[in-house]
Amino acid sequence: MRLPAVHWEHSGLTAAALRSAEEKLSGELARMRDATGTLYDDDRGSINLPLDKHHLRACQALARKHAKASLLVVVGIGGSNLGTIAVQEAILGKLHNLRPGKRVLYADTVDPDQMAVIAALLDDELRKGRHVVIDAISKSGTTTETIANLEILLGVLRQRKRDPKRHVIVTTDADSRLWTLAKDEGFETLAIPRLVGGRYSVLSPVGLFPLALLGVNITALLDGAAHMRAACLRTGHAENPAIARAALIALARSEGRNIADHFVFKTDFEAIGKWYRQLMGESIGKEWDAQRKNRVWMGITPTVSVGSTDLHSMAQLYFGGPNDKLFTIVTIERWARDTGVPRMERYGALAPDIQGKRLGRIMDAIAHGVTSVMNAQKRPYCRIELPDASEFSIGALLQLHMMEMMFLAPLLDVNPFDQSNVEAYKEETRKALAK
Ligand code: PA5
Repeated sequence: MRLPAVHWEHSGLTAAALRSAEEKLSGELARMRDATGTLYDDDRGSINLPLDKHHLRACQALARKHAKASLLVVVGIGGSNLGTIAVQEAILGKLHNLRPGKRVLYADTVDPDQMAVIAALLDDELRKGRHVVIDAISKSGTTTETIANLEILLGVLRQRKRDPKRHVIVTTDADSRLWTLAKDEGFETLAIPRLVGGRYSVLSPVGLFPLALLGVNITALLDGAAHMRAACLRTGHAENPAIARAALIALARSEGRNIADHFVFKTDFEAIGKWYRQLMGESIGKEWDAQRKNRVWMGITPTVSVGSTDLHSMAQLYFGGPNDKLFTIVTIERWARDTGVPRMERYGALAPDIQGKRLGRIMDAIAHGVTSVMNAQKRPYCRIELPDASEFSIGALLQLHMMEMMFLAPLLDVNPFDQSNVEAYKEETRKALAK
């Protein structure tokens, strides 16, 4: 299996900037390597998830037990569902629910109309006598939206006189109040390691159980991540792709490029871009420096674009507007199903040179068109080329981004593991509800 290839030629990354970042990060790299020996007793502990056979076996066993489920409802928000959506859509496709087999719904925000539909669909499955699984995921166990939605779905089970113990799985910190309640209620539970934060948790039971239940090969997902982890812990002359990515993003920022766009040339990768938004938004967007002494208002704004769809709305801005973005162009070499354009004489002149060609080939031509214009307009981009959209490749990609963020934060002197301003809004919400 091959790891995704990262191409730097047009990124603006210089040898001097890379060397300087490597020097600055030598201490952090040593701490990261030390963390590989401590399991989860370090903030960096999520880097050990790809090798954790205990989680893997527990999630596979639980998935086998519930294999007959016709519907999975994932109740969780932010770090508790973005990774699952990213992998599910990348591997199984955005249109997964339109195919026969197990369906998946995500209950994240408290949108009344959407929750009404989810509750009705759940009720419908129960009425038909089918098995359903509700996977309630919350690191803290106290997130308002997640608890509200869980209670609504428990209400649906109760109305249908179903025993929630047969349907509900709770994934949370082993010392949260939700954990204690779940144990009291007799629900099955999966623990999130204490120092693994939401946005670094996709390869923990947070993502592994729902993905395994949906048929994703989580062994291969972790394997890809483990191989990338090894590459991102490399020292010496071999390229460390996470350090190089961190060096590039920090350099771009120092040159005034404060927007990092994830430009994915596969529709099913859009949710990877949204997952990356949280990863970068919460890891780098900070009021305070790493020592919490100085107010720094640090941040890089992560955005997502889908090729070629968004070229028809954003290309003018990207090529003609301010040169304030660093693009990460994500492409795949091999498509699982590549449809060809049939030969139809009367249509030939409308869009020339497409008949008889595969769509993948046309997509490559569009991506080439984009990079050619970017070269001409001097818009920097880094290209990540995945061999395919397999579990191995996706696991590797996610691991690269998580480790690049752990290296980028020290370069910018912020803490990649806290999110105090997110907590602040949650606290204010609780106060507003108490009034
Ligand atoms: O990264 C974070 O910590 C947050 O965005 C959380 O993932 C999000 O708020 C959900 O929190 P919890 O998993 O505790 O319900």
